[in-house]
This record gives sequence, structure tokens and C-alpha cells, in this order.
Amino acid sequence: MNNTNFVSESELSRQRDMALTLAKEIVPRKLTFFVETFGCQMNVRDSETIKGWLSLIGYTQCESKEHADFVLFNTCCVREHAEKRLMGNIGALKELKDANPGLIIAICGCMMQQEGMAKKLLKRFPHVSLIFGTNALHRFPEMLNAVLNGERIAMTDRAGDAIAEGLPKLRDNQRSAFVNIMYGCDNYCSYCIVPYVRGHERSRMPEDIRSEIVSLVETGITEITLLGQNVNSYGNDGSTGMRFAELLRYVSDVPGLKRIRFMSSHPKDLNEDVMQAIATLPNVCHHVHLPVQSGNSEILRRMNRKYTREHYLSIIENLRKLVPDIEFTTDIIVGFPGETEEAFRDTLSLVEEVGFAAAFTFAYSPRQGTVAARMEDQIPEPVKKQRLQALNELQARKTVENNEKYIGHVGEVLVEGYDERGEETLLYGKYQNFKMVYFPGCRELLNRYVTVKVTKSSKNSLLGEMIDA
Ligand code: 5AD
Ligand code: SF4
Repeated sequence: MNNTNFVSESELSRQRDMALTLAKEIVPRKLTFFVETFGCQMNVRDSETIKGWLSLIGYTQCESKEHADFVLFNTCCVREHAEKRLMGNIGALKELKDANPGLIIAICGCMMQQEGMAKKLLKRFPHVSLIFGTNALHRFPEMLNAVLNGERIAMTDRAGDAIAEGLPKLRDNQRSAFVNIMYGCDNYCSYCIVPYVRGHERSRMPEDIRSEIVSLVETGITEITLLGQNVNSYGNDGSTGMRFAELLRYVSDVPGLKRIRFMSSHPKDLNEDVMQAIATLPNVCHHVHLPVQSGNSEILRRMNRKYTREHYLSIIENLRKLVPDIEFTTDIIVGFPGETEEAFRDTLSLVEEVGFAAAFTFAYSPRQGTVAARMEDQIPEPVKKQRLQALNELQARKTVENNEKYIGHVGEVLVEGYDERGEETLLYGKYQNFKMVYFPGCRELLNRYVTVKVTKSSKNSLLGEMIDA
């Protein structure tokens, strides 16, 4: 049964018509926009949609807020410090608004879905005129129209958490693209605010995903990253007729698609079928971002992660057997309530044992409304800080070890960018398994695949030389 709600085609065309009507007024005024995105890839992808709308409406993108007529912050609320930072950022825009009264200041994203937040911001910052949540993107033309008519708008209701297909987008590169496969999360990890702000889990239909990928490849994109809070539970509710491994198979034969990445994976749902898909589909990349969060099974239980240290390690072991060149990256939280020194040492020993290519490490940050925020044995900040530092030192050593393995390695790299240093141009890009390498070359190779041999490893990066362009 499919109980996912979709925004109707008539509503979408009403919004598109409104965008085109607005364009008649906006285009002659030569207005510009600036969007700043915080947080995860989900937000990056949402920002592409908003930029797509703004472009359709006739705004052009500019490089700094100082020159923009529309400024948007796309916010994240996963950790607490983001809120303080946002307040500072919005406060600072007051001056710009005084200098340019026509400036529209907007805020969107996860943080706006927190209870009471939109109201609080509208009250505190009279120079902000538009606030919307993650589920209102399809209504952007309507909201902007109201703002241009002098209203102040906050649209943060969940509107049945519906999926909107076919929204415009503006991407900033011609080589890789993010493709949402699902929205929301049902896992309720006890520290995490995401399920409260992004709503329950909804999967897109496979045909919609595939046709988006086909049209991306037609524009020259060769690498896609399938996005979801927990991609491994794609279709688990039976709504799509396909689970994640089947989806991988279903999209992998799109002609011209060279690389498929996906994130994030949840260890509890990474099953044998997904492992086989990674091992056998030629364009599925040999990299899994597999957040472990803690190396101690009791802390994992309190985090409501639904796997143990042993289960996590067995996934790593099985995948390495099937796919010898696979690399893992992870997320880790230190200082979760109740984390003893011994439990923390389990995290260190897991990091030592697995040898992640990279780890994103966080001090636990209590989020109001979550179960962990109400737990009694909260860890003092200085202890969290100490643990974070110890973990980071260990991971830095493991990164060096991991890099050293690559000396002499030869493989195909997708060129993502370049640094110009005097006479020399240093290109950089990733091997299919996510390892980044720097090598001398020319800018014309941007977005192309070249074969690179690693000649040297340094603390944070690999250096190499091109052996074939
Ligand atoms: N405190 C610290 N880190 C958190 N994360 C999520 N919620 C919190 C929190 N309350 C981290 C997790 C997650 C990543 C995106 O952010 O490690 O995987
Ligand atoms: Fe948060 Fe857990 Fe869902 Fe990830 S899987 S978004 S950590 S609740």
C-alpha cells in the first residue's frame, strides 16, 4: 500500500504559473539573490530547489549578501551551536536592510520546523520577512508573491509531509548531483532532532528517481549521490515496490552514469542484498558512509540505534571480504549521557580496529524534545571536549595510516576543482572509493575523468601524478 502523499500536479502548475507571472515583474528589475546553506547534503539539495525557483522568477545569483536583493539562510538544527550562530547572522543583516529597504530576508530549513522557532524569529527580527520549513519548498512562488505584496510570512506546517516532484533546481556544478530518494526519518535515535523536524519517512517512487537521473545525465552529470536520512530503509514500508538494493540495480544501468554514491546508511538496515549490490554493480562506488555513533553496545542501546558493536564490526568485515578496496567513513558522538570512560574507550578501540578513511566527530549536544536530552547522567562539557580531542587525535593517526596504503595506487579520478599556485595548477578529485587526491594538471580537465597514480601521502591528503588524461 502506498500511503505517501504527493503534491498534486494542479498545485505544482499553479505555483509554476505564479513564478512565471512574477518573472514579468522581476526580470526588468535585474534583481539578485544570495543563498547560504548550513548543515547536511539534504539542505544543499533543498537550496538547489530554492535557487531554481529564484532563477525561474528572474533573480540571478550573486556572490555576496552585501549586493543581494534576496538573502536566504537555509538552517540546520542537529546541534545546538547552530542556533546561536544563526541569530548572529540574522542580526547582522539589519544594516543591509537599512541600506536597501527592498531587500528580502528569508530563513528556511530544519531549524524553522522546531516548535515556536518561526514565531520567535519573526518577533525578534522585524527585518525578516519570510520563514519556511523543509516541506514548503513547492510553495515558494506563492510565499514570495505575498512577501512582495508587503506581507510577512511563516510557513512551517507539515502539509501532510507530501512529496513534490518536478520542482526547478539550480546546481553549481556540471559533474555531480544529489538525488533525494527519501525524506524524513522514523528511527528516533534518542539524541536526534531530525525525525521531529523533517517528519516521518517517505520514499520517492523509483520511476521518478530514475527519470531524474536520466535527465541529469543528459545534462552531462556522470556522478550521482542518492540521498536520504537512512537510504537503507528505502521502500521498507512497501510503498515503492522496491527496496534499496533493488533501487540500486534499477538505476545503475542508466546509460552514461559512471558513479553512484549514496548516503547516509544506517547499520541496522544494511543487509546482504545491499552488500551484494555494492559488490556487483560496476558503477556503485566502493565507499559507505556508515555512522557508528559509539563503539559501546550499551551506549548504542541507549541511543536507540538497534545494533551492537559486534554487528557493526561484522558489516565492515563482510563488506571488506566482498569488496576489498572499499572505504568507510563514519559519524561519532562522544559524551552521550551515561558514557563512562570505559564506554568511551570502546569507541576508541572500534576506531582503531576499523580504520575509517575519515570520521565526522561531534560532542553530544542535547536537543530539546529528544529522549537523550531528558536522561540524567549528562556528561560535563570539559569531559566531552577532552574525549573529542582524544578521538580526533586517534582518527588523525588512522587517516595518515589509511593514506599511506595508497602510495603507488593507480585509478580513475573525477576532477572536482583546482588550486592555482603561482605557475602551477593543482587539480583535485576523488577515486571512486571517495579518496581524494591532488595532482598537477590543467583547468580544462575539470569535470573529466583522468587516471592518477599516487606518489606521496601527507597528513591529510594524497598527492599524485596523471598517467593518462
Ligand atoms: N549531538 C551531537 N551530534 C549529533 N548528531 C546528530 N544529533 C546530534 C546531537 N544531538 C550527529 C550524528 C549524526 C550526524 C549527522 O550528526 O553523528 O550522524
Ligand atoms: Fe537522526 Fe538517527 Fe534518523 Fe539519522 S537515523 S536522522 S541520526 S534519527
